[in-house]
Amino acid sequence: MRRAWIGLAVAGGSLSFAGILTLADPPKDPKVKFKAFKPVQDVEHLMAGQGKLYGDIKDAIIDDSWADAETMAWLLAELANVNHFQSTDPRYQKIADSMSTGCVALAKAVRKRDKKKAKDALTTVGNRCKACHDIFQ
Ligand code: HEC
Repeated sequence: MRRAWIGLAVAGGSLSFAGILTLADPPKDPKVKFKAFKPVQDVEHLMAGQGKLYGDIKDAIIDDSWADAETMAWLLAELANVNHFQSTDPRYQKIADSMSTGCVALAKAVRKRDKKKAKDALTTVGNRCKACHDIFQ
């Protein structure tokens, strides 16, 4: 019985995950409601997190801690996705999006354990940080 309950919970979990994956598409089932995205913290605190991750990724690449570096690079890509919603200014959103794309490239370079490419990708991400700070910080 307990086992069946766990199975059900897992099935439910993957169902809601599928819902998240299709967020970019309009819901086909009119009964399915998607709530508007609402960040849980302000930009200052989000940035403290981005700053920490950026530094930790740099250290992890230097130390050849590839698995950690990859996990953090994907996480930073997702934070940039979240940062998109912190402003309605299209310039802000565009830079946040390009930072996210840059982090995906970084994660892929790290996955290949290519130190040179990883460092270059990290520099590109750093340039996106600066591009936004130059205008909005
Ligand atoms: C699309 C815009 C944008 C991008 C991209 C961006 N930031 Fe920021 N950042 C801001 C804004 C706006 C502030 C000012 C926030 C405040 O103090 O209210 C800020 C502030 C900061 C701060 C200071 C936070 C504090 O404690 O006052 C740090 C650290 C920081 N960013 C790190 C980063 C890093 C690292 C990246 C790239 C990996 C990055 N940011 C990318 C918009 C951005």
